[in-house]
Amino acid sequence: MGMGMMVNINADIDFETAELLATEHDLDIELKAAESLEQELITEIEEIEDKPETLIARPPVVTFLGHVDHGKTSLLDHLVGINVVKGEAGGITQHIRAYKIDNNGHPVTFVDTPGHEAFTEMRARGANVTDIAVLVVAADDGIMPQTEEAISHAKAAEVPIVVALNKIDLEGVDANRVMTQLTEHQLTPSEWGGDVEIVRTSATQGIGMEELLETLLTIAELNEYSANPDRSALGVCLESEQQGDRGVVAKMIVQNGTLRVGDILVCGPAHGRVRAMQDTLTGKPILEAGPSTPVSLMGLDTPPGAGDRFHVLKDISQAREIASAREGESSRQSLSGITTKVSFDSFQEM
Ligand code: GTP
Ligand code: MG
Repeated sequence: MGMGMMVNINADIDFETAELLATEHDLDIELKAAESLEQELITEIEEIEDKPETLIARPPVVTFLGHVDHGKTSLLDHLVGINVVKGEAGGITQHIRAYKIDNNGHPVTFVDTPGHEAFTEMRARGANVTDIAVLVVAADDGIMPQTEEAISHAKAAEVPIVVALNKIDLEGVDANRVMTQLTEHQLTPSEWGGDVEIVRTSATQGIGMEELLETLLTIAELNEYSANPDRSALGVCLESEQQGDRGVVAKMIVQNGTLRVGDILVCGPAHGRVRAMQDTLTGKPILEAGPSTPVSLMGLDTPPGAGDRFHVLKDISQAREIASAREGESSRQSLSGITTKVSFDSFQEM
């Protein structure tokens, strides 16, 4: 009060005032800025360990990676039973797509990544949510620069790699040539005594689709992917955008826990209450999404970046505080020019 502030013992005071008081009174107190509050809260959430008895099997998240035009979207289309390729401008995937399919009681989540070079980082981030990478290699082209990139992303993510040797229907293709190339990249086919499954596929003629699915399910079974559906959700934003009257639409993938309409979220610099969620395949509204489920989510105040992690918090004011601390942090970083964060919008402009 001596400093001209009408406060009582329970009032919040700003950082500068607290610092001033501490120095004046020679106090050795711990000052908690918003950033450390964030660290504490998030670490607390992340570190909740799931007891083994709370864990149940979750669908594998399978990501398609590979050189542009080698057939990633076509393969996914065939497996999911839709036709996205036809609707794509110039046939080039510009969005990350994620769909969960039921597959006779053995659900699998597929993620399709843009194959264009400008999307390298998003693809790298896409690999982080991935359990299994399907490396798509067109049999006529063989290993190309972005195939090599994809191999290094998948290796960095330390996930099993399955090769879809695609376009096997084309005349004159030489599977052995591609398998030799793969071996040179330390991906030795199992039929040559290595540990990489190679599935010969044709997305256009539907060859090898069953075998590809079975190979993926076998790997999933061996790895026993599991999660605890009874905790509050955490996961990753794949991409997001501002969509006119729908507001911010964020494509998220739940990694653990169950995300529900009404939950309070913080995701990168964004926060808000989940207003609605939609199935990414059918567009149907859903009220909750368990582990490995991709959703389109509405209710955030601003579009989070591709690769931003999300957490559910109990309190909207906590969420606001963390989000604004991050926003401050990222604008400070971009002012000093050291930020490497790339938003989805800037990817589209590239
Ligand atoms: P980006 O998203 O641009 O990286 O391409 P992509 O890898 O998703 O390839 P996409 O599925 O768009 O296929 C590229 C072209 O190859 C399309 O014209 C497909 O019809 C064709 N294609 C895909 N799979 C096959 C196949 O198995 N056989 C043949 N003959 N053509 C295929
Ligand atoms: Mg594509």
